Amino acid sequence: METVLVTGAGGYIGTVLVPKLLEKGYKVKAVDRYFFGKEKLPYHENLEIIQEDTRKLSENLFENVDYVIDLVAISNDPSGELFNEATWQINYESRVRTANIAKRNGVKRYILPSSCSIYGFQEAIVDETSPTNPLTTYAKANEKAEQEVLPLADKDFVVTVIRQSTVFGYSPRMRFDLAINGMTYGAWKTGKLPLMRDGTQYRPMVHVQDTTDVMILLLNDEEEKINGEIFNVGADHLNYQICNLGKIVAETIEKETGKEIEIEWYGDPDHRSYRVSFKKIREILGWEPKWDAKAGVKEIVNKLEGGEIDKTTETITLNWYKELEKWFNIIEELKMYGGILNIDINKEEIKTFDKKI
Ligand SMILES: NC(=O)c1ccc[n+]([C@@H]2O[C@H](COP(=O)([O-])OP(=O)(O)OC[C@H]3O[C@@H](n4cnc5c(N)ncnc54)[C@H](O)[C@@H]3O)[C@@H](O)[C@H]2O)c1
Repeated sequence: METVLVTGAGGYIGTVLVPKLLEKGYKVKAVDRYFFGKEKLPYHENLEIIQEDTRKLSENLFENVDYVIDLVAISNDPSGELFNEATWQINYESRVRTANIAKRNGVKRYILPSSCSIYGFQEAIVDETSPTNPLTTYAKANEKAEQEVLPLADKDFVVTVIRQSTVFGYSPRMRFDLAINGMTYGAWKTGKLPLMRDGTQYRPMVHVQDTTDVMILLLNDEEEKINGEIFNVGADHLNYQICNLGKIVAETIEKETGKEIEIEWYGDPDHRSYRVSFKKIREILGWEPKWDAKAGVKEIVNKLEGGEIDKTTETITLNWYKELEKWFNIIEELKMYGGILNIDINKEEIKTFDKKI
């Protein structure tokens, strides 16, 4: 039985990927701080939950590991700007360190899930050979990680980078801060669909089931096709212009629920616009996604209608990290004798005190 070590395993993509790996017969070492909870991964005899910070991974964790899928990240632009230093350490430094430890310990393949956001603003349609234009800390950290893990590729250590489109769809660690998921929630809940100005920007999208399928494909595909390579993950027809995407989301919800949906503009014009070519993954790996935006919106609406998911602070990554930091500071300030109201009481001391009274 082969073993896959997945970092960021408790996240949006990780909690979809890990059950698939288990189902395919892999053993999984699921490494995460579990900022979003451990209960989102299923119990399974071949699953080992490892609560650890990826900045501190030790060599022995990689013993008998065949593959590493390094999902860990502070996973969006606003969180990356607010927690700048941590984002740099986690998304770039820890992943380069993990790739090096993996190589030293005989791991066969290493996959870096990066992001199409490293293309930033682009006029033309970009492919894997185009110059990048990372505009944020998040995108810059991904690019640096790519640049330092790819040269580690050799005949014994297969390294592949995937640049994922913006992901959508249901996951046990639900995120409503992703474009399609957020629009769907807003429109379903209030009848108003939030659209980021001015709607002319292009963005490629991919469903979470599809991008995790690619990760699994890369564990098995022929080494010559994938070693030292970068693949954009998505499809040409899933390059959506945001205003058209808004219309698709609105129409799908209207059809599913009978509610009328109105478009509501918000924010300053978004300068991140890019159209991406997915020719390489289609032609070299013979892979195309099964999902499109319409199917993803239907899936989310059904889960919302069924009460299986809802928008909470935890589903907005930035807000959840801010909340955790806020409560960490409050608790540090208030805790005494190992607790707040429940504290460690030395029973002997109390007995002596009672006698004195
Ligand atoms: N979701 C998308 O649209 C998208 C698009 C392109 C690329 N990606 C990339 O895919 C990867 C996964 O994204 P996601 O959407 O699942 O994000 P996520 O925020 O849901 O998951 C990240 C996980 O990493 C964990 N984590 C954070 N810091 C850690 C640390 N120091 N040590 C251990 N664990 C830590 C968190 O607890 C969380 O479970 C990221 O690298 C992200 O950049 C995501």
